[in-house]
Order: sequence, then C-alpha cells, then structure tokens
Amino acid sequence: MKSRQYLDWDAGVALTLVEKIASSRAGPVLLCLQAVQEKFGFVHDSAVALIAEACNVSRADVHGVLTFYADLRSTPPPAVPVRICASEACQAVGGRALKAAWVQLCADDSELAELTGTDEPIFCLGNCALGPAVMIDGELLGCVDVLRLREAVASACIVGGAVG
Ligand code: FES
Repeated sequence: MKSRQYLDWDAGVALTLVEKIASSRAGPVLLCLQAVQEKFGFVHDSAVALIAEACNVSRADVHGVLTFYADLRSTPPPAVPVRICASEACQAVGGRALKAAWVQLCADDSELAELTGTDEPIFCLGNCALGPAVMIDGELLGCVDVLRLREAVASACIVGGAVG
C-alpha cells in the first residue's frame, strides 16, 4: 500500500487538465472533477468556475455534481484517508463495532486522528462478502478488525512517508 502524493493546487495545471477533457468528450463535468481530484487530492473552490467555463455549464451545475457524489471532496484529504463501509452487509458482520472501535482509538490518539482525518461514511465498496470492508488511502481491505486497520494505517504511513 502506498500513500498518494498530490500536487499543490495550481489553477494553470487544473485548467490545462479540464480543457483537455472538456474538448474531447460530451458531458464531461464529472470527468473533469475526477481528474482534478486525482491530480490535487480534492476539488479546490477555484476549480468549480474553471470547470464550468471549460464545459460551458453554470457554476451551480458543477457544484451540484461535486456535492452529489460522496467520493468527490472539496477539502484536502488527510495523509491517510480511512473510510469504513457503512452499508448493511458490512454492518451485519461487525462494521458498526469496527467503526465504534476506530472512533475510540482516534479519540485516544490525536496523532492517529490527525493522520487519518474524520472517517467519511462510504456506502458499499463492492466487497460485501469480505466485510467489514475499509478503504485506506484508496486501497481496499476486507475482513477488517480494529487491529488490522491500525496496522494497515501504520503500513501506509511507512510506505507513503506520512510520518517519520
Ligand atoms: S456492504 Fe460493505 S462492501 Fe458492500
């Protein structure tokens, strides 16, 4: 598992990115948002206007798409984002207990909490047979308990260099 490295926000790079997509496909707002997030880790406020102009739609249209999809974010991600599946199949095999244990672990360890940020619920990672499922820094893990989750975060930190 490796921690993602993102560029610092750069409107010029973002404009080049979205203009290339907007000129090559129809209805590209979502593709532009995904491309910006892939490059910078999130969709900067300035990207909304930039994408709206490149795609010839209103800012409200872009904002609507941005806020509709839970996977799109408008704030920088934590160093090692952790997302615990909150859907039924995972809840049936301990997802709620895992979430509660993780929240408690983060409450007891401020460094861990800062490193992983607030768990933003995600609804089904497509790994229902191996629940509870967790996405750690973009990598999918199944049959996760809190100790395995802690180890995976530590491993992501070592590989990605998030902590010394
Ligand atoms: S319900 Fe959790 S991965 Fe599908």
